[in-house]
Parts: sequence; C-alpha cells; structure tokens
Amino acid sequence: MDVNFNVELAGSGGRSLNLKNPLLLASGTCGYASDLEGFTDLSVPGGFISKGTTLKPREGNPQPRIAEVEGGMLNSIGLENAGIEAIVRQKAPVWRKLGLTVIVNIAGSSIDEYVTTAASLEGVAGIAGIELNISCPNVKAGGEEFGMDPATAAAVTRAVRDATGLPLFVKLTPGSGRVSQVAAAVASAGADAVTLINTFKGMAIDIRQRKPLLGNITGGLSGPVLKPVALAMVYETAGIIDIPIIACGGISSARDALEFIMAGAHAFQVGTAFMVNPALPAEILAGMKQFLQDEGVEDINQLVGCARA
Ligand SMILES: Cc1cc2nc3c(=O)[nH]c(=O)nc-3n(C[C@H](O)[C@H](O)[C@H](O)COP(=O)(O)O)c2cc1C
Repeated sequence: MDVNFNVELAGSGGRSLNLKNPLLLASGTCGYASDLEGFTDLSVPGGFISKGTTLKPREGNPQPRIAEVEGGMLNSIGLENAGIEAIVRQKAPVWRKLGLTVIVNIAGSSIDEYVTTAASLEGVAGIAGIELNISCPNVKAGGEEFGMDPATAAAVTRAVRDATGLPLFVKLTPGSGRVSQVAAAVASAGADAVTLINTFKGMAIDIRQRKPLLGNITGGLSGPVLKPVALAMVYETAGIIDIPIIACGGISSARDALEFIMAGAHAFQVGTAFMVNPALPAEILAGMKQFLQDEGVEDINQLVGCARA
C-alpha cells in the first residue's frame, strides 16, 4: 500500500506551503541546507529551516558554545550568521538550482529590524517562506524576548505580515509560560503556522573549574529531554488555534514524530537528533511509512490530532 506524505500548511490568509513530506530540518542544525551536500541526502526532507539570520552579520557568543547534558545539549551560539544579504545573493540562487524547499529563519532586536530583514526576501526566487524566531531580546523594551508576551509577539508578527507575501511561520518560546495564548495572538496577527517550540533556557557548571560550562553562562536546551514539554505545548495549543502547528523539540524517531502528529501537529522539525545522525530523516520517514501501512492508514493527514479527546 502506498501512503500519502504530502502536507499543505495553509494559514487563514489564503497563503499556503506544500511539502512533499512533513519532515523539516530545524533552524541552526542544518546550516544553509546546501552546505549539507555529501553529509545527508538533500532530497529526503520535506524542507529545511535556515540558520537564524539577522539584518547585518553577527559574530555570536563567546566560546564554549555547546555543552552536552543528560538527555540533550545546551547551545549558546548567539545567532552567528552572515546577514540577510548573503542569503539573498549567495544562498537563494543555490536553493533554487537544487530545487530545495528552504524557509528562512529570521531574528532581530527590534520590530523594525525584523521588518527590514523580512522585506529583503520579497520576490527572491528560491525562498519558500519565513520562520520568525521571536525568542530574541527586544532591545527597546528592556531586553525581554518578543515571544514572552502575547501582545508583543502579535505586534512583531503583524508588522512582518504587512511587509511580506511569503508564507510566515512564527516560532514560539517555551519560556513564555503562556505559549498557547501567544500562539493565538500570532495567529490573529496573520501567522500562517506556528512552530512549537524553540529551546528552553538552561545551564551546566564545570565543578573542577567551578564555573559555567558555556561562555554565555546560559544556553538553549534541546534534544530528547525537551520532547514531553514540547508535546504538551503542541497538544494544548492545537485545541486553541486553527492554523497549522509545526512541532519541534526532541524528535528523534518515527514514534516521536507520530506522537506530535497525533497531538495535532501537521508537520515537524528534527534538530539535535539530526546532528547526531545525518541518516535520521530517511529512517524517520521509513518508520512512519511502515506504521501507516501496518495500521492501514493511507494518508498522514488522517492522523493529525487523532489522539485529542
Ligand atoms: C546548535 C543549535 C543552533 C540553533 N540555532 C537556532 C536558530 O538560529 N534559530 C532558531 O529559531 N532556533 C535555533 N535552534 C533551535 C532549534 O531549531 C530547535 O528549535 C531546538 O533545538 C529544539 O529541537 P530539537 O530538540 O529537535 O533540537 C538551534 C538549536 C541548536 C541545537
């Protein structure tokens, strides 16, 4: 039996993004997609989310920036990136040539910066959409992350929505404590989909050195340890919004991915686990196909939200 893996991420504004399968590689874990040629089979994922990109190039945080912890890892890369112009001039033409579906993850420290960055992608061939990383400090408002508060998250979403015709995903931070309210706010402000979740703030200490392991002291926790947290947030949010949810957080097997789909996600991202195993996307999709065949399910979309009461 053949199964359908095609998914349509359609928001309320009439824009939609068609994916050949629901597996995307998460931002910051697949570079600029085309860099991975020879490391993984680029034809497997349904899409790639680029490294977080800002208006101007950024150098990132002091070293060390990565630490292993039980059940996952911490990173404090600090958005090191080449700036949006490098995407427009150097990366997008390659994505187009290779026929890759790439969503550009953008970050900023003010609403104006998000808007200018998003607007520079308008009409650029090779770009399938934008994912807004709103886990960034709002410099003009005392440094609180945009994604912490529903009104601020909605303001940045609305401003970017007005500046672009591209499909727009908004990636939420688990640190908010009000994730489903933030999701509802960004959905009303014109997001086409929400990505749930970004990393959770954490830290580790080197007891011999008697100091934090990361140069930045704290970092973002990712990997399997995050999965139950992300799953609960996806489940809760799916009961509140009617735009698609793209799940993210600790997914490392077909079973994990299926759990998120059954909780209400239409698509999912693999991050940390992909860095460990570059063959994982193919393994996850093969495992999902086997499950669907065993269960006599012809279309992955039939499972979306099926575990919901
Ligand atoms: C090394 C590294 C770099 C990351 N960089 C970004 C980034 O630039 N922008 C972003 O929105 N998320 C970034 N993330 C977060 C991931 O996209 C993802 O949300 C998170 O790691 C949880 O998924 P996972 O447990 O599958 O890794 C990064 C994660 C890691 C591990």
